[in-house]
Amino acid sequence: MAVIASRRSPTRLLTSVRSVLSGAFRQHSSLTTDLIENMDKKETWDRFYRENNVKRDFKNFEWFFGFDSVQDFILPLLRPQPSCATIRRVLDLGCGTSALGPGIYKHSQWPVHVTCADISPVAVQLLQEQANSKPIQPGNPSSRLTFLELDCCRLQARFGEQSVDVIVDKGTTDALLRSREGQPKAGLVLKQCLGVLRQSGCLLQFSDEDPDARVLWLERESGLVARVGVQEVGTLRGVCYYCYMITPCAP
Ligand SMILES: C[S@@+](CC[C@H](N)C(=O)[O-])C[C@H]1O[C@@H](n2cnc3c(N)ncnc32)[C@H](O)[C@@H]1O
Repeated sequence: MAVIASRRSPTRLLTSVRSVLSGAFRQHSSLTTDLIENMDKKETWDRFYRENNVKRDFKNFEWFFGFDSVQDFILPLLRPQPSCATIRRVLDLGCGTSALGPGIYKHSQWPVHVTCADISPVAVQLLQEQANSKPIQPGNPSSRLTFLELDCCRLQARFGEQSVDVIVDKGTTDALLRSREGQPKAGLVLKQCLGVLRQSGCLLQFSDEDPDARVLWLERESGLVARVGVQEVGTLRGVCYYCYMITPCAP
């Protein structure tokens, strides 16, 4: 398979970011320009979530799409395994103010411990305040929902080796890969995810990047210690989205 380098081209990126932001900001702003170049930077996202919540009427911001579009990829993975009695641990990597993590907590009939983690304290605080002010009824009484400010380049400092069952990444690796200085961070985050995932675990990356570029990148960066699969999620505003499924290989 050939890598189509233009798939990460500035033009496509501009279209993609503008399309995602069109729901949040009516006009092209200096913030859009900042995002296009610096989506790997905490300050950029603090500013984004602050400006997006300037009227203080909190609304979840969804990059690409919401929980409903991806739940069928996630919920079946949460079924308890006969060999493992512990509660399933789920991490929303770069959660922003998305309702994805809370949605998993609400809709999983099986017990789960969902952690919503982001480098932006502004996003984490907004999401946590929302959950405090409007408590969510879990799909299972044993489930837990927690919020965490964390640079996911340092996942292994926070989570034990092979301690997480499912990691969901909706737009976070895309944000790193497309930033001026973010590519090494994207590779590091992938390696950190593989370090904290159980052998039976799975990392799901939701992305608009074409498989001919992303699969090769994933295979190269994971050092062939993981299997990579891909399925289409669907098309939104003319852009096709994919779910990349990365599972550790047995040693
Ligand atoms: C494109 S947004 C996606 C947000 C959310 N997943 C969604 O679907 O709306 C990327 C998110 O990744 C976060 N982020 C960027 N770099 C990060 C890092 N090193 N560690 C944790 N989160 C990071 C940003 O703060 C931002 O919330």
